[in-house]
Amino acid sequence: MSVSDRVQRSIKWGSWIRRMFEEGNDLKRQYGEDNVFDLTLGNPIMEPPDEFHQELRRLVENPLPGMHRYMENAGYAETRTAVAEQLSLETGFKFTLNDIVMTCGAAGSLNVVLKTILNPDDEVILFSPYFPEFINYIENHNGVVKVLPSDDHFVPKLDVLEAAIGTKTKAVLINSPNNPSGAIYSEDFLHQLGELLSNKQAEYGKQIFLINDEPYRKIIFDGQKYPRIWPHYEHSIVVTSHSKDLALPGERIGYIAIHPDFDQRKELVDGFIHCNRILGYVNAPALMQNVVRRLQTVSVSAAEYQRKRDFLYRHLSEMGYSIVNPQGTFYMFPKSPIEDDLTFVRELQQLRVLTVPGRGFGSPGYFRISFCVEDRTLEGSLDGFRMVAEKFKTH
Ligand SMILES: Cc1ncc(COP(=O)(O)O)c(C=O)c1O
Repeated sequence: MSVSDRVQRSIKWGSWIRRMFEEGNDLKRQYGEDNVFDLTLGNPIMEPPDEFHQELRRLVENPLPGMHRYMENAGYAETRTAVAEQLSLETGFKFTLNDIVMTCGAAGSLNVVLKTILNPDDEVILFSPYFPEFINYIENHNGVVKVLPSDDHFVPKLDVLEAAIGTKTKAVLINSPNNPSGAIYSEDFLHQLGELLSNKQAEYGKQIFLINDEPYRKIIFDGQKYPRIWPHYEHSIVVTSHSKDLALPGERIGYIAIHPDFDQRKELVDGFIHCNRILGYVNAPALMQNVVRRLQTVSVSAAEYQRKRDFLYRHLSEMGYSIVNPQGTFYMFPKSPIEDDLTFVRELQQLRVLTVPGRGFGSPGYFRISFCVEDRTLEGSLDGFRMVAEKFKTH
């Protein structure tokens, strides 16, 4: 067998999202694109904002000398400065370019951070429901995944975390706003989490990292203010990207930001820069670094996603689905009307509505809907949702 055991295992147990998407493609071939309602992928339907195209055009028409060459592995100083200035403005902390490393998306950021900090068998704690690629990323760098539960509102259970942290714990990885639940962790929650981690660091006499994966930070609803991790814990790292807020997932552009008060921050950032290189990313795409430099305050319309959320929430609730209304992202994570989420998702699939079973996110008994799709796809899916709800009598 030419493929390693580990990769074979990873493919076999791999992404339910991909699996449902690919099975959906067979249905699309059979019934035609317009007759299949695909709510599987988090691939934003929106085009990037106008400012993106203007900036791209400006650069193409006025090329900078050497703009396609290799650069510092951390990324252009001008771009890191722009990111740091915006973060400082938004948070009141004094970020500098030395706290920022430009990366190939949040996925690239996570791999760089995990490669930098993990020794073999170090544990990384996650909370279900989680973004399934986290498991692959942790295992890429010989870490051990420890999954802990969240409560009924998808907020991690801190008493369980307290009991679970041990000498092997290297990092706690959170994701707010959360894929798949759409939950945003409150200021109060982050405060308690920070205190808990500080106490555990003191108890074990070692550093425990808090990593927040926040690519959906700007896609939040109902006029909320996004609670940041920075005021609550010094050993914190943010990984993010412009895949969702500027709708650029194919362009692979993001960054890592480290807390400006992190002790040993220089050593850690040097590690990130080194790992960005040796993982083969080398540096984040040059053109995109130049483009996003001036777009740090720009975002796609969260209101447009909120409108889609409201539509879906209203209709599905009326049908009897039990849903915690997402506070952000473009996902919804309702309870499956029957315990077996896979059977439920297969029933929907028969009616050409494609979703992903909750077990793919470590939370059986739920299913994920991705609503970053055209309105007609959402509208078209309602009949299927209604028929399956009636079949399983959610009322
Ligand atoms: C929670 C979460 N983290 C990371 C990623 C990866 O994003 P990127 O395209 O920035 O690598 C995604 C993509 O869907 C995501 O949902």
